Amino acid sequence: MGFDKRIKLNLFTWFITLSTVFCSVQPPAINPGIFNTPNTIGECHSCKIFVESFNKGLERTSRGKYEGGDAAWEEEKLKSYKRSELRLVDIQEGICKDESKYAIQCHHVANKAEEFIEEWWAQDPNESEDLYLYICIDSLKVCCPKNHFGKDCKPCLSNLCSGNGKCRGDGTRKGNGTCLCDAGYIGEICDQCALGYFMSYKDDNKILCSECHKACLGGCQGGSQKDCVACKPGFIFDATAGCLDINECEDTKKCKDNQICLNSLGSYTCMDCDKACNGCHGVGPDMCIKCAQDYSLDGEYCVRDSNEMDNSEILASTRYMSYVGFLITIAILIPKSTYLASMVGTMVMCYIMGAEYYCMINGHTGLVNLTNYDLFQLLRT
Ligand SMILES: *[C@@H]1O[C@H](CO)[C@@H](O)[C@H](O)[C@H]1NC(C)=O
Ligand SMILES: *[C@@H]1O[C@H](CO)[C@@H](O)[C@H](O)[C@H]1NC(C)=O
Repeated sequence: MGFDKRIKLNLFTWFITLSTVFCSVQPPAINPGIFNTPNTIGECHSCKIFVESFNKGLERTSRGKYEGGDAAWEEEKLKSYKRSELRLVDIQEGICKDESKYAIQCHHVANKAEEFIEEWWAQDPNESEDLYLYICIDSLKVCCPKNHFGKDCKPCLSNLCSGNGKCRGDGTRKGNGTCLCDAGYIGEICDQCALGYFMSYKDDNKILCSECHKACLGGCQGGSQKDCVACKPGFIFDATAGCLDINECEDTKKCKDNQICLNSLGSYTCMDCDKACNGCHGVGPDMCIKCAQDYSLDGEYCVRDSNEMDNSEILASTRYMSYVGFLITIAILIPKSTYLASMVGTMVMCYIMGAEYYCMINGHTGLVNLTNYDLFQLLRT
């Protein structure tokens, strides 16, 4: 008896461990969100998020609690609700709740802004300033008006970086007002082309820079491979055509045996042939020059000689055998304790589903439906 109990206990612990592992580990493909912690954002951005959330709250409560009716007394009630303490509480109850990514930052601003919000709320709605201006710029002093930067909200450079960049700290209390140029532009006011770019348009108040051809090294006069100053490695200069791609794969020694060489612009890659091949002219078991050992040609494909049992078949039968073992254990448990049996049953199901899912995503055959069916049958008896 004691021995019997110990076995059961062991099995039980085993089930718990396995099912916990399978049921708690979610593949990244299903929930990528858990691996991305939100980036930190600036105070001005946080304040903007708070104001947006407050404005959503205003919208949400715009029909008050007296929705649907249009009787005169309801209009009256709505009027008194419009700037009431009650509505403010209603808005503040939902504040930052619609904001999942930066909720912490939003609540932080909400706490700091509380007294200013009350002041603002008490103002005549017709006369009161825009909330963003009132809270973020004037009260908390974390933002500046557009095209202004820094502690004292000084104006950005007047020409606004030639339209090819932005003022450092624009709209915030940060930065020094110099230009942060877009890719391809340089200069104090972003009015010159960076290395690897050429001027593709120019008039009195605008220039445009475009990227040189991929074959160019160190600049160009135009967009084609003929306009390069020099050629990149992997390209060769031709007097009429400019920089031309070198086909490295013409050299048969570039890749190892049983690999295929694929040329690309300026480079090449070696890819392994299919495991069924001994030499190939493409990727896949239908691209073999000769079949590998233990494989022979069937139509266009090299297929495995079937005298040995396939690895995955062995794997599958082992798996199903252990499932049967689980089911037998449950069957033994049922007459002793239905509660324990159903608990173990649930865990086994969880484990089987996890295992089958794992096998499925790894390309093995699965039998999820069949095993589930068996389990349900067993649990019902
Ligand atoms: C506020 O403005 C609205 C129109 O924008 C007007 O109908 C209303 O009479 C004004 N209320 C006050 C108190 O000035
Ligand atoms: C302005 O800030 C940028 C980046 O923080 C820095 O690289 C640059 O030197 C600063 N310019 C001046 C004039 O302080």
